[in-house]
Amino acid sequence: MKKSVSNHPGFFVVFEGGDGAGKSTQVKKLTQKLESLNETVVLTREPGGTELGKKIREILLDQDEFEVTPRMEALLFAADRSINMSQNIKPALEKGFVVIADRHIDSSIAYQGVGRGLGADTIEDISRWAVQGIVPDLTVLLDVDANTGQSRLESKDRLDRESAEFHTKVNQAFRDLAKANPDRYIVIDASKPIDEIADLVFNAFKAKRK
Ligand SMILES: Nc1ncnc2c1ncn2[C@@H]1O[C@H](COP(=O)(O)OP(=O)(O)OP(=O)(O)O)[C@@H](O)[C@H]1O
Ligand SMILES: [Mg+2]
Repeated sequence: MKKSVSNHPGFFVVFEGGDGAGKSTQVKKLTQKLESLNETVVLTREPGGTELGKKIREILLDQDEFEVTPRMEALLFAADRSINMSQNIKPALEKGFVVIADRHIDSSIAYQGVGRGLGADTIEDISRWAVQGIVPDLTVLLDVDANTGQSRLESKDRLDRESAEFHTKVNQAFRDLAKANPDRYIVIDASKPIDEIADLVFNAFKAKRK
């Protein structure tokens, strides 16, 4: 994957990891921490970070009426991401804000590229094109084993309901992405206590933000 080249004054943090890893929990923790330090934080999630994106999210995750093929799934995620980048992420980074995203491109590489077998490189190319080349400054991988993650979920969406084998492949794909991009990744064992993880995340943020 291409190296991070920030030509904006903002800072882009992404939380990645399998289902139930604790991403949304840590997104909230980091937001609260940064806001208490007077940073302007823009929070977003994928899919569904924009009004149009919420409709795409419904098709992707919350319905069983229409069949969604793997290629459709990949393109819908990329479409959602393209809208989110141009409406939310890019403008905020250009204003110098911190953007925190609950999932981004690496989720598509892991779920559609590896989990669905469409090919990591193909999915990365589609996604990079969709986001006009902006790369996260810091990606936090909350590394969870599939059983722990699934056992934490109160309700399951269309992707959550995939097999244990699918989730194991996805989790390994995240680890491989982290290994291939050590300059922007921090990997945290997601079975640690919530506050301990939050401290590790904040330390990584401080070290990178400078
Ligand atoms: N480190 C942790 N230890 C134990 N439980 C946790 C931890 N982090 C989060 N949880 C709990 O696990 C559940 C799932 O957490 P959360 O919603 O943050 O995960 P997520 O990665 O956003 O899940 P999803 O993939 O479904 O969006 C919640 O009930 C949360 O309180
Ligand atoms: Mg979540």
